[in-house]
Amino acid sequence: MSEVRVSRKEVSRKELSKGTLPEGAANEADASRKVREMFTQIAPRYDLLNHLLSLEMDRMWRARTAKILRPILEREDAKILDLCCGTGDLAFALARRAKGRVWGADFAHTMLVRAREKALGEVASGERRVASGKPAPFFTSGFASSNPEARKPKGATPDRKTAPLNPKGGAPAEGRSGAARRWTIPFVESDALRLPFGDGSFDLVAAAFGFRNLANYEAGLLEIRRVLKAGGTIAILEFTEPKPGWFGDLYRWYFRAVLPRLGGMISGDRAAYTYLPKSVARFFQPEELTELMRQSGFEGVEARVWTGGTVALHTGVRQR
Ligand SMILES: C[S@@+](CC[C@H](N)C(=O)[O-])C[C@H]1O[C@@H](n2cnc3c(N)ncnc32)[C@H](O)[C@@H]1O
Repeated sequence: MSEVRVSRKEVSRKELSKGTLPEGAANEADASRKVREMFTQIAPRYDLLNHLLSLEMDRMWRARTAKILRPILEREDAKILDLCCGTGDLAFALARRAKGRVWGADFAHTMLVRAREKALGEVASGERRVASGKPAPFFTSGFASSNPEARKPKGATPDRKTAPLNPKGGAPAEGRSGAARRWTIPFVESDALRLPFGDGSFDLVAAAFGFRNLANYEAGLLEIRRVLKAGGTIAILEFTEPKPGWFGDLYRWYFRAVLPRLGGMISGDRAAYTYLPKSVARFFQPEELTELMRQSGFEGVEARVWTGGTVALHTGVRQR
Protein backbone atom coordinates (compact mmCIF):
# COMPACT_ATOMS: atom_id res chain seq x y z
CA MET A 1 0.00 0.00 0.00
CA SER A 2 1.40 3.41 -0.89
CA GLU A 3 2.06 5.91 1.86
CA VAL A 4 2.65 9.63 1.46
CA ARG A 5 4.26 11.62 4.25
CA VAL A 6 2.84 15.12 4.60
CA SER A 7 5.33 17.90 5.12
CA ARG A 8 4.84 20.97 7.27
CA LYS A 9 2.89 23.81 5.70
CA GLU A 10 1.80 27.01 7.42
CA VAL A 11 -1.96 27.13 7.66
CA SER A 12 -3.90 30.13 8.81
CA ARG A 13 -6.00 29.27 11.87
CA LYS A 14 -8.84 31.33 10.37
CA GLU A 15 -9.24 28.73 7.62
CA LEU A 16 -9.68 25.86 10.03
CA SER A 17 -13.09 24.62 11.06
CA LYS A 18 -13.77 24.67 14.78
CA GLY A 19 -15.63 21.43 15.14
CA THR A 20 -18.19 19.22 13.50
CA LEU A 21 -21.53 20.76 12.59
CA PRO A 22 -24.31 18.28 11.83
CA GLU A 23 -27.32 19.60 9.90
CA GLY A 24 -29.39 21.97 12.05
CA ALA A 25 -26.92 22.21 14.95
CA ALA A 26 -26.95 25.72 16.38
CA ASN A 27 -23.99 25.48 18.74
CA GLU A 28 -21.37 23.07 20.13
CA ALA A 29 -23.67 21.49 22.69
CA ASP A 30 -26.26 20.91 19.99
CA ALA A 31 -23.65 19.44 17.61
CA SER A 32 -22.43 17.09 20.31
CA ARG A 33 -25.96 15.96 21.19
CA LYS A 34 -26.81 15.29 17.53
CA VAL A 35 -23.63 13.25 17.01
CA ARG A 36 -24.34 11.21 20.11
CA GLU A 37 -27.95 10.55 19.07
CA MET A 38 -26.83 9.56 15.59
CA PHE A 39 -24.31 6.96 16.77
CA THR A 40 -26.73 5.72 19.43
CA GLN A 41 -29.21 5.11 16.61
CA ILE A 42 -26.90 3.36 14.11
CA ALA A 43 -24.97 1.21 16.60
CA PRO A 44 -26.65 -2.13 15.69
CA ARG A 45 -25.63 -1.81 12.02
CA TYR A 46 -22.45 0.21 12.50
CA ASP A 47 -19.90 -2.60 12.08
CA LEU A 48 -21.61 -4.20 9.12
CA LEU A 49 -21.77 -0.89 7.28
CA ASN A 50 -18.25 0.08 8.25
CA HIS A 51 -16.80 -3.07 6.72
CA LEU A 52 -19.12 -3.06 3.72
CA LEU A 53 -18.80 0.60 2.76
CA SER A 54 -15.02 0.64 3.17
CA LEU A 55 -14.68 -2.69 1.29
CA GLU A 56 -13.16 -4.12 4.50
CA MET A 57 -10.31 -1.61 4.35
CA ASP A 58 -11.21 -0.21 7.77
CA ARG A 59 -9.79 -3.38 9.38
CA MET A 60 -6.51 -2.94 7.52
CA TRP A 61 -6.24 0.76 8.49
CA ARG A 62 -6.68 -0.04 12.19
CA ALA A 63 -4.27 -2.99 12.02
CA ARG A 64 -1.71 -0.82 10.28
CA THR A 65 -2.14 1.85 12.95
CA ALA A 66 -1.49 -0.75 15.66
CA LYS A 67 1.60 -1.93 13.79
CA ILE A 68 3.01 1.59 13.63
CA LEU A 69 2.32 2.08 17.35
CA ARG A 70 4.05 -1.21 18.23
CA PRO A 71 6.99 0.37 20.11
CA ILE A 72 4.52 1.74 22.70
CA LEU A 73 2.21 -1.27 22.67
CA GLU A 74 5.10 -3.58 23.47
CA ARG A 75 5.86 -1.81 26.73
CA GLU A 76 4.56 -3.83 29.71
CA ASP A 77 3.72 -0.67 31.66
CA ALA A 78 1.96 1.17 28.81
CA LYS A 79 -1.50 2.60 29.46
CA ILE A 80 -3.46 3.06 26.26
CA LEU A 81 -6.76 4.80 25.53
CA ASP A 82 -8.92 4.21 22.46
CA LEU A 83 -10.81 7.50 22.33
CA CYS A 84 -14.23 7.57 20.62
CA CYS A 85 -13.86 3.80 20.62
CA GLY A 86 -17.37 3.08 19.32
CA THR A 87 -17.79 -0.69 19.04
CA GLY A 88 -14.17 -1.22 20.07
CA ASP A 89 -12.39 -2.27 16.88
CA LEU A 90 -9.33 -0.06 17.39
CA ALA A 91 -9.15 -1.08 21.07
CA PHE A 92 -9.14 -4.73 19.98
CA ALA A 93 -6.51 -4.10 17.28
CA LEU A 94 -4.30 -2.36 19.84
CA ALA A 95 -4.92 -4.99 22.54
CA ARG A 96 -3.86 -7.78 20.18
CA ARG A 97 -0.36 -6.29 20.21
CA ALA A 98 -0.37 -4.61 23.63
CA LYS A 99 1.58 -5.88 26.60
CA GLY A 100 0.21 -3.04 28.73
CA ARG A 101 -3.43 -2.09 29.43
CA VAL A 102 -6.06 -0.75 27.01
CA TRP A 103 -9.12 1.36 27.86
CA GLY A 104 -11.95 2.46 25.55
CA ALA A 105 -14.05 5.63 25.90
CA ASP A 106 -17.10 6.79 23.98
CA PHE A 107 -20.24 8.80 24.76
CA ALA A 108 -22.76 6.63 22.85
CA HIS A 109 -23.98 3.94 25.22
CA THR A 110 -25.28 1.57 22.53
CA MET A 111 -21.90 1.60 20.76
CA LEU A 112 -20.26 0.54 24.03
CA VAL A 113 -22.85 -2.20 24.50
CA ARG A 114 -21.77 -3.60 21.11
CA ALA A 115 -18.11 -3.26 22.11
CA ARG A 116 -18.80 -5.30 25.23
CA GLU A 117 -20.73 -7.96 23.30
CA LYS A 118 -17.83 -8.28 20.88
CA ALA A 119 -15.36 -8.48 23.76
CA LEU A 120 -17.38 -11.31 25.30
CA GLY A 121 -17.52 -13.02 21.88
CA GLU A 122 -13.74 -12.85 21.73
CA VAL A 123 -13.60 -14.50 25.16
CA ALA A 124 -15.78 -17.34 23.93
CA SER A 125 -13.75 -17.85 20.77
CA GLY A 126 -10.53 -17.55 22.80
CA GLU A 127 -11.79 -20.26 25.15
CA ARG A 128 -12.72 -22.48 22.22
CA ARG A 129 -9.27 -22.03 20.73
CA VAL A 130 -7.59 -22.72 24.05
CA ALA A 131 -9.77 -25.86 24.45
CA SER A 132 -8.51 -27.03 21.06
CA GLY A 133 -4.93 -26.47 22.17
CA LYS A 134 -4.39 -23.09 20.47
CA PRO A 135 -3.66 -20.20 22.79
CA ALA A 136 -5.55 -17.09 21.71
CA PRO A 137 -5.90 -13.57 22.99
CA PHE A 138 -9.31 -12.63 24.31
CA PHE A 139 -11.04 -9.56 25.58
CA THR A 140 -13.49 -8.85 28.35
CA SER A 141 -14.95 -5.61 29.55
CA GLY A 142 -14.89 -5.19 33.27
CA PHE A 143 -14.84 -2.53 35.89
CA ALA A 144 -11.76 -0.51 36.41
CA SER A 145 -11.51 2.98 37.79
CA SER A 146 -11.93 5.60 35.07
CA ASN A 147 -8.62 6.97 36.20
CA PRO A 148 -6.00 4.35 35.46
CA GLU A 149 -3.79 5.93 38.09
CA ALA A 150 -6.43 5.88 40.81
CA ARG A 151 -8.25 3.09 42.62
CA LYS A 152 -11.74 3.26 44.06
CA PRO A 153 -11.86 2.82 47.82
CA LYS A 154 -13.13 -0.63 48.78
CA GLY A 155 -16.95 -0.73 48.73
CA ALA A 156 -17.27 2.54 46.84
CA THR A 157 -20.17 2.73 44.40
CA PRO A 158 -19.03 3.44 40.87
CA ASP A 159 -20.65 6.55 39.42
CA ARG A 160 -22.89 6.33 36.33
CA LYS A 161 -20.29 7.57 33.92
CA THR A 162 -17.62 5.10 34.95
CA ALA A 163 -19.79 2.14 35.96
CA PRO A 164 -19.01 -1.11 34.18
CA LEU A 165 -21.35 -2.00 31.35
CA ASN A 166 -21.56 -5.40 32.93
CA PRO A 167 -20.70 -5.33 36.63
CA LYS A 168 -20.43 -9.14 36.56
CA GLY A 169 -18.46 -9.13 33.32
CA GLY A 170 -15.05 -9.29 34.87
CA ALA A 171 -13.09 -8.84 38.04
CA PRO A 172 -11.68 -5.38 38.71
CA ALA A 173 -8.70 -5.03 36.42
CA GLU A 174 -6.45 -4.43 39.38
CA GLY A 175 -7.47 -7.80 40.79
CA ARG A 176 -6.37 -9.77 37.75
CA SER A 177 -2.93 -10.77 36.79
CA GLY A 178 -0.67 -11.28 33.78
CA ALA A 179 -2.37 -12.07 30.48
CA ALA A 180 -5.91 -11.80 31.88
CA ARG A 181 -5.20 -8.24 33.01
CA ARG A 182 -3.86 -7.40 29.59
CA TRP A 183 -6.98 -8.56 27.78
CA THR A 184 -9.48 -6.87 30.05
CA ILE A 185 -10.69 -3.72 28.30
CA PRO A 186 -12.78 -1.34 30.41
CA PHE A 187 -15.19 0.58 28.17
CA VAL A 188 -15.98 3.89 29.79
CA GLU A 189 -19.00 6.02 28.84
CA SER A 190 -17.69 9.55 28.62
CA ASP A 191 -17.39 12.66 26.48
CA ALA A 192 -14.02 13.09 24.79
CA LEU A 193 -14.10 16.78 25.70
CA ARG A 194 -14.48 16.05 29.44
CA LEU A 195 -12.70 12.78 30.10
CA PRO A 196 -13.02 11.23 33.55
CA PHE A 197 -9.28 10.45 33.71
CA GLY A 198 -6.61 12.16 35.71
CA ASP A 199 -3.89 14.36 34.20
CA GLY A 200 -1.02 12.39 32.68
CA SER A 201 -2.83 9.02 32.80
CA PHE A 202 -1.88 7.51 29.43
CA ASP A 203 1.16 6.70 27.32
CA LEU A 204 -0.94 6.57 24.17
CA VAL A 205 -4.29 8.09 23.18
CA ALA A 206 -5.49 6.82 19.80
CA ALA A 207 -8.71 7.58 17.93
CA ALA A 208 -10.06 6.01 14.73
CA PHE A 209 -12.70 7.91 12.76
CA GLY A 210 -13.97 9.57 15.94
CA PHE A 211 -12.01 12.81 16.30
CA ARG A 212 -13.72 14.38 13.24
CA ASN A 213 -17.03 14.17 15.12
CA LEU A 214 -15.93 16.36 18.03
CA ALA A 215 -17.78 19.64 18.46
CA ASN A 216 -14.52 21.46 19.19
CA TYR A 217 -11.26 20.10 17.76
CA GLU A 218 -8.94 22.36 19.70
CA ALA A 219 -10.67 21.49 22.98
CA GLY A 220 -10.40 17.80 21.99
CA LEU A 221 -6.66 18.08 21.42
CA LEU A 222 -6.15 19.91 24.71
CA GLU A 223 -8.12 17.23 26.57
CA ILE A 224 -6.04 14.50 24.93
CA ARG A 225 -2.93 16.43 25.88
CA ARG A 226 -4.14 16.68 29.48
CA VAL A 227 -4.67 12.92 29.90
CA LEU A 228 -1.38 12.04 28.17
CA LYS A 229 1.84 11.72 30.12
CA ALA A 230 4.63 14.09 29.07
CA GLY A 231 6.25 12.32 26.11
CA GLY A 232 3.05 10.30 25.51
CA THR A 233 1.80 9.69 21.96
CA ILE A 234 -1.34 10.90 20.20
CA ALA A 235 -2.56 9.01 17.10
CA ILE A 236 -5.55 10.14 15.08
CA LEU A 237 -6.73 7.99 12.18
CA GLU A 238 -9.22 9.91 10.03
CA PHE A 239 -10.77 10.15 6.61
CA THR A 240 -9.40 12.83 4.33
CA GLU A 241 -10.49 14.06 0.93
CA PRO A 242 -8.29 12.86 -1.94
CA LYS A 243 -6.90 15.46 -4.30
CA PRO A 244 -8.72 16.17 -7.62
CA GLY A 245 -7.97 13.71 -10.41
CA TRP A 246 -9.73 10.61 -11.70
CA PHE A 247 -9.37 8.67 -8.43
CA GLY A 248 -10.38 11.63 -6.24
CA ASP A 249 -13.38 12.36 -8.45
CA LEU A 250 -14.48 8.74 -8.48
CA TYR A 251 -14.06 8.54 -4.71
CA ARG A 252 -16.10 11.73 -4.16
CA TRP A 253 -18.88 10.37 -6.35
CA TYR A 254 -18.91 7.11 -4.36
CA PHE A 255 -18.65 8.90 -1.00
CA ARG A 256 -21.29 11.56 -1.70
CA ALA A 257 -23.75 9.77 -3.99
CA VAL A 258 -23.51 6.01 -3.45
CA LEU A 259 -22.52 5.69 0.22
CA PRO A 260 -25.39 7.76 1.70
CA ARG A 261 -27.94 5.71 -0.29
CA LEU A 262 -26.44 2.35 0.63
CA GLY A 263 -25.82 3.36 4.24
CA GLY A 264 -29.31 4.80 4.53
CA MET A 265 -30.92 1.67 3.09
CA ILE A 266 -29.09 -0.74 5.38
CA SER A 267 -29.08 1.33 8.57
CA GLY A 268 -32.48 2.95 8.10
CA ASP A 269 -30.81 6.27 8.92
CA ARG A 270 -30.03 8.18 5.71
CA ALA A 271 -29.10 11.32 7.66
CA ALA A 272 -26.21 9.55 9.40
CA TYR A 273 -24.68 8.50 6.07
CA THR A 274 -25.27 11.93 4.53
CA TYR A 275 -23.49 13.41 7.55
CA LEU A 276 -20.40 11.22 6.92
CA PRO A 277 -19.25 12.74 3.58
CA LYS A 278 -20.26 16.23 4.71
CA SER A 279 -18.24 15.94 7.91
CA VAL A 280 -15.22 14.69 5.96
CA ALA A 281 -15.51 17.58 3.47
CA ARG A 282 -15.54 20.06 6.37
CA PHE A 283 -12.68 18.31 8.17
CA PHE A 284 -9.00 19.21 7.98
CA GLN A 285 -6.57 18.14 5.33
CA PRO A 286 -3.66 16.31 7.00
CA GLU A 287 -1.38 19.38 6.88
CA GLU A 288 -4.08 21.42 8.67
CA LEU A 289 -4.66 18.92 11.44
CA THR A 290 -0.94 18.41 11.99
CA GLU A 291 -0.55 22.19 12.28
CA LEU A 292 -3.33 22.37 14.88
CA MET A 293 -1.68 19.51 16.77
CA ARG A 294 1.58 21.46 16.88
CA GLN A 295 -0.24 24.56 18.10
CA SER A 296 -1.91 22.45 20.80
CA GLY A 297 1.36 21.31 22.38
CA PHE A 298 2.46 18.27 20.38
CA GLU A 299 5.84 17.80 18.72
CA GLY A 300 7.30 15.38 16.17
CA VAL A 301 3.94 15.65 14.44
CA GLU A 302 3.48 13.90 11.12
CA ALA A 303 0.75 12.47 8.90
CA ARG A 304 0.90 9.27 6.91
CA VAL A 305 -1.59 9.37 4.05
CA TRP A 306 -2.88 6.03 2.83
CA THR A 307 -5.13 4.49 0.19
CA GLY A 308 -4.99 7.21 -2.44
CA GLY A 309 -5.35 10.06 0.06
CA THR A 310 -8.61 8.81 1.60
CA VAL A 311 -7.32 8.26 5.14
CA ALA A 312 -4.46 9.62 7.18
CA LEU A 313 -2.81 8.64 10.43
CA HIS A 314 -1.68 11.74 12.33
CA THR A 315 0.81 11.16 15.13
CA GLY A 316 2.71 13.31 17.59
CA VAL A 317 4.16 13.39 21.06
CA ARG A 318 3.07 15.50 24.02
CA GLN A 319 5.76 18.06 24.74
CA ARG A 320 7.52 17.52 28.06
C1 LIG B 1 -17.29 6.74 13.32
S1 LIG B 1 -17.36 6.13 14.94
C2 LIG B 1 -15.77 5.38 15.15
C3 LIG B 1 -15.78 4.25 16.12
C4 LIG B 1 -14.50 3.45 16.22
N1 LIG B 1 -13.42 4.25 16.73
C5 LIG B 1 -14.11 2.80 14.92
O1 LIG B 1 -12.94 2.82 14.56
O2 LIG B 1 -14.98 2.21 14.27
C6 LIG B 1 -17.24 7.60 15.88
C7 LIG B 1 -17.43 7.39 17.36
O3 LIG B 1 -17.06 8.59 18.03
C8 LIG B 1 -17.91 8.75 19.12
N2 LIG B 1 -17.88 10.17 19.53
C9 LIG B 1 -18.10 11.24 18.77
N3 LIG B 1 -17.98 12.37 19.50
C10 LIG B 1 -17.65 11.97 20.75
C11 LIG B 1 -17.40 12.66 21.96
N4 LIG B 1 -17.46 14.00 22.03
N5 LIG B 1 -17.09 11.95 23.04
C12 LIG B 1 -17.02 10.59 23.00
N6 LIG B 1 -17.28 9.86 21.90
C13 LIG B 1 -17.58 10.56 20.78
C14 LIG B 1 -19.27 8.32 18.61
O4 LIG B 1 -20.18 8.01 19.64
C15 LIG B 1 -18.87 7.11 17.77
O5 LIG B 1 -18.96 5.92 18.51
